[in-house]
Amino acid sequence: MNKVYFDNNATTPILDEVFDSMLPYLKEEWGNPSSIHWAGRCPKKGLDEAREKVAAFLNCSPVEIIFTSSGSESDNLAIKGVANSKKKKGNHIITTSVEHPAVLKTCKYLEKEGFEVTYLSVDSKGMIDLNELKESITEKTILITIMYANNETGVIFPIDKIGDIAKQHKITFHTDAVQAAGKMPLDTRTLNVDLLTISGHKLYAPKGVGALFVRRGTRLVPIIHGGHHERNRRGGTENVAGIVALGTACEVAARDMDKEVARLKEMTERLEKGVIDTIPNVQVNGGGSPRLPNTTNISFEFIEGESILLGLDMHSIAASSGSACTSGSLEPTHVLLAMGNTAELSHGSIRFSLGRTNTMKEIELLLEVLPPIVERMRSMSPLYAGSNEPVVFKR
Ligand SMILES: Cc1ncc(COP(=O)(O)O)c(C=O)c1O
Repeated sequence: MNKVYFDNNATTPILDEVFDSMLPYLKEEWGNPSSIHWAGRCPKKGLDEAREKVAAFLNCSPVEIIFTSSGSESDNLAIKGVANSKKKKGNHIITTSVEHPAVLKTCKYLEKEGFEVTYLSVDSKGMIDLNELKESITEKTILITIMYANNETGVIFPIDKIGDIAKQHKITFHTDAVQAAGKMPLDTRTLNVDLLTISGHKLYAPKGVGALFVRRGTRLVPIIHGGHHERNRRGGTENVAGIVALGTACEVAARDMDKEVARLKEMTERLEKGVIDTIPNVQVNGGGSPRLPNTTNISFEFIEGESILLGLDMHSIAASSGSACTSGSLEPTHVLLAMGNTAELSHGSIRFSLGRTNTMKEIELLLEVLPPIVERMRSMSPLYAGSNEPVVFKR
C-alpha cells in the first residue's frame, strides 16, 4: 500500500534539492563559520548566502534576519525580546486566543513576570474582530503578536490591516508566519510588521532551524546569551547545514509558489467538497474565512477524530486531529473551542494539510475510504442517534 501523507502542517519531508544543498556542510565543510582560517571560510560563505536567500524570500535586508533553532524559538525571541526591551514604556501585550502554544505559552509566562496580556476572541469562522483589537489598545500596549495563518484551521488573519493599526499607535507588531510561509507571498516591505517568524521544517527543510525577521531599528533583548553570533542577538554557533537548507527551501518556495498554490487549492477544494457531498453531519472549521490553500479542518459529529485517524492509518493515510503538539492529550483543541464549538465537535475534528507530495489520485483514494470509516465509527458510537432520521446539525 502506498503511503499517503496529509499532515504537512505538522512537518514536511525534506526536498531533494534542499537535502543536496546542505550535505557538504555536514561532511567536508564542517568548520566553524566564526573561524577566520581556511576551515571557517566556506561555512561562513554558506551562511551569508543562506541569509541573502531568506532575506530575498521576505523582501528584507540580510541584516534583518536572525537564524534560530525553530519557529518556537523565533516566537519566544520576538515576544520576550520586545517585552523586555520595552518594559519601561509599558507592560501590555495583545495576542489572540488561537495562537500556537509557542506564542500562547510565552505570553502566559510573561503574565507571571508582571506583563498583562489581552487574548482576542475569534468568531465561529475563526476570524478576529479588528474593532476588538483597536479597543484593546491602551497607553501601555507595547506589543501585538498575531499569527499570519492558523496551523489548525488555515484561517488567514488580515495582517496588513493589523500592521497598519499597530503602526498608527506606534506599537511593535510580530507575526508568526510559520504556516503562511511558502503558501502566500510574505513581503516585509509592504506589510507593517516589525518581526516575523518562519520555521524550516514546515517549508521542506529539516527540523531544528528557524528564522526571525527583525525590522531595522527594532530593539530586542536576547534570550540566548553567548558569543557575538547573529549580530549579538542570538548566541550559539550556527547550525550551518540547517541554515543552508532553509536558504534553499526559501528559494524553491518562491520559485514554485504560484504553481504549487494552484495545485494545493484545487486538491483541497476537491477534498472538502467530496467529504461534504458524501458524509452527513460534518462541519468545515473556518469555512467562509480566507484560508491557506492546503488546509482543511473538518469536524465529524458523533465520533472521535482519533478513531477516524486509526481507520485512515489502516489504509496508510496520515492526517491529524488537533495540532501535532496537542495530539495525544485528551484536551480538545483550544482553537476549535475558541471558535465556539462544543468539546464533542472539537474532539471529532480532523485536519488534512496537503503538500508537495500529494496528488489528486490520493484525494480520490481518501474520498473512497473515508465515508465507510465514518459510517462504521458512527454505527458504534453511543452519541449517534442510530436512526435514519436526518440529524439536525447543531452548533
Ligand atoms: C503556527 C506555528 N507557529 C510555531 C510553530 C513552532 O514551530 P517549530 O516546530 O519550528 O518550533 C508551529 C509548529 O507547528 C506552528 O504551526
